[in-house]
Amino acid sequence: MKQHGRAPQLRPRNLRKTVVRMFSYFKYNKLLFVGGLILIVLGSLARIGANGMLSPIIDSLVTEQSQALFVKNLVVMGLIVITISIAEYLGNLFMARLAQRTIHQIRTEMFSHVQKLPMSFFDRHSHGELMSTFTNDVDMLNQALEQNASQILISAVTFIGTFIMMLVISPALTAIVVLMLVFMFAATRYVGTRSAKYFRAQQAQLADMNGYIEEMMSGQKVVQVFNYEDRAINTFVDKNERLRQTSTNASTYGVMLMPIMGSLSFVLYGLVSMGGAYLAILGIVTIGNIAAFLQFTRTISRPITQVSNQLNTLFAAIAGAERIFNILDQEPEADQGEVRLVADCSGKNGLCWAVPTEDGIVYQPLKGHIQFEDVDFGYVPGQRVLKNISLWAKPGQKIAFVGSTGAGKTTITNLINRFYEIDKGKILFDGIDIRRINKHDLRSTMSIVLQDVYLFEGTVADNIRYGRLDATDEEVVEAAKLANAHYFIQHLPQGYDTVLTAGGENLSQGERQLLSIARAAVANPTVLILDEATSSVDTRTERLIGEGMDKLMEGRTTFVIAHRLSTVRDADAIMVIENGEIIERGSHEELMQQQGRYYALNTGLVELE
Ligand SMILES: Nc1ncnc2c1ncn2[C@@H]1O[C@H](COP(=O)(O)OP(=O)(O)OP(=O)(O)O)[C@@H](O)[C@H]1O
Ligand SMILES: [Mg+2]
Repeated sequence: MKQHGRAPQLRPRNLRKTVVRMFSYFKYNKLLFVGGLILIVLGSLARIGANGMLSPIIDSLVTEQSQALFVKNLVVMGLIVITISIAEYLGNLFMARLAQRTIHQIRTEMFSHVQKLPMSFFDRHSHGELMSTFTNDVDMLNQALEQNASQILISAVTFIGTFIMMLVISPALTAIVVLMLVFMFAATRYVGTRSAKYFRAQQAQLADMNGYIEEMMSGQKVVQVFNYEDRAINTFVDKNERLRQTSTNASTYGVMLMPIMGSLSFVLYGLVSMGGAYLAILGIVTIGNIAAFLQFTRTISRPITQVSNQLNTLFAAIAGAERIFNILDQEPEADQGEVRLVADCSGKNGLCWAVPTEDGIVYQPLKGHIQFEDVDFGYVPGQRVLKNISLWAKPGQKIAFVGSTGAGKTTITNLINRFYEIDKGKILFDGIDIRRINKHDLRSTMSIVLQDVYLFEGTVADNIRYGRLDATDEEVVEAAKLANAHYFIQHLPQGYDTVLTAGGENLSQGERQLLSIARAAVANPTVLILDEATSSVDTRTERLIGEGMDKLMEGRTTFVIAHRLSTVRDADAIMVIENGEIIERGSHEELMQQQGRYYALNTGLVELE
């Protein structure tokens, strides 16, 4: 099982609620569930029956001395054995199918639900944590559904059924067995609780070590750059050694259980044989009875050791299911937007806003006018990142944000497409509050070139087409040309069909940026947000990127976050952001004349050059 770096929590918080919810999934496969249960119970009962048949079979020869009866009993035994095979085969098959279908459904639900969660969810949950639920927890639940649950059921049925059969054969012998079982149960508990402590520690240390391996593997470059290898090895050796010690302790107790139980069952066996022989001499039981009873004695002790092991795994799986349900219970992104975008109309790209009002739907053309009115925002409640932001961009205007790192530039752009909800104020799009606009429609009018480019595994063309899935090959090439990406793409081994690795690691940083500009271009957005990457590229690529961006901006409302002041010079308005506030605004000339922060930034940079 693939472990991600987290010690699994072994006990569910609300056992009953989670189990009930788990059961609710079986309603989609009622036949498998009910059929599986019946077959499994039938199989267990048939096994008990087979053990019980020993008695009449032996007695038909020993006591009755009847060949005919013996043959008849053998035939019954044969039928029972066939029933066992069929019931167990089908029962397990049904349970496996049920588990696979349920897990398939849960996986689909989880993945599609996570797609709809707001950005703030991903801020609160680490990548590793989510991966662990998607892999470990789902795996564990699968195993529990496929095996643990039915094994526990089998154990329970076997135990109860066998016990009843024993009582029927001989209450006196059963008393011996019960006494002995109580003793064995106590021994199991004693060893079990001790080994459980070390077992938990072992799990935690295993997760810790795996997390460390994962971290070091993904950060291998940094490790090597800073000559961290020796220290990494030492830390790993420590973790590995600690794991070995706890595992040793865990197994010391773990391997104790089998021999203890083994010898105790032999004692039990001996006691029952002696007691049985005595009762047989008295004529209370038959030889066949003793044979069957001894067989039952063997089977009844097994469920005791098994159930305690199975229960631990089952509880851990339920705890995992709880984490899965917790994700499914996260509130998806709010979208009450009743304002929709409609085609065949006089607005930009032939689109209009359909605004429902009291007097029916009013159509107004899409223009790309963006306005912030006194907006406050914080990622975490109580921590304001943006304060009193007011600004506007008329259709086709270019607004630039400059300011030091962490000032809040990216944050402003995160609000325009509603990655996050604002705390105070209003953001208007063509005069409509963006909270009233359908989120999908809102985002379809915008393109963002993110600060850190993300490329998916797939071809270059696929990655550009991410901007608009129905773009034709010609449109993809056109977008690449506009973004100045066409040239380098042509020189890739397979051109537009070159397969990129996830993250686009087989491209240079500049090339990745050019691709992301092409991706934005293919969407033909009304509003464009360009978050310039901070990492520097060579001068030629910088010029290519700059030109690509310029062409892309033409005729669109653009917000550009620039770290190179040269790219913002011709903006219609420049906003200087510091500590989440706009401290200066105006054109390049105006701001230079003010000799404030912008002037300082600009001249400082000039001096650097
Ligand atoms: N997802 C987030 N969760 C919590 N806080 C965040 C998140 N993203 C950014 N912040 C915080 O908000 C503040 C503004 O960040 P923002 O990314 O807007 O800065 P920026 O101006 O774009 O900086 P840079 O020039 O480095 O890109 C920072 O203090 C940052 O720590
Ligand atoms: Mg930023």
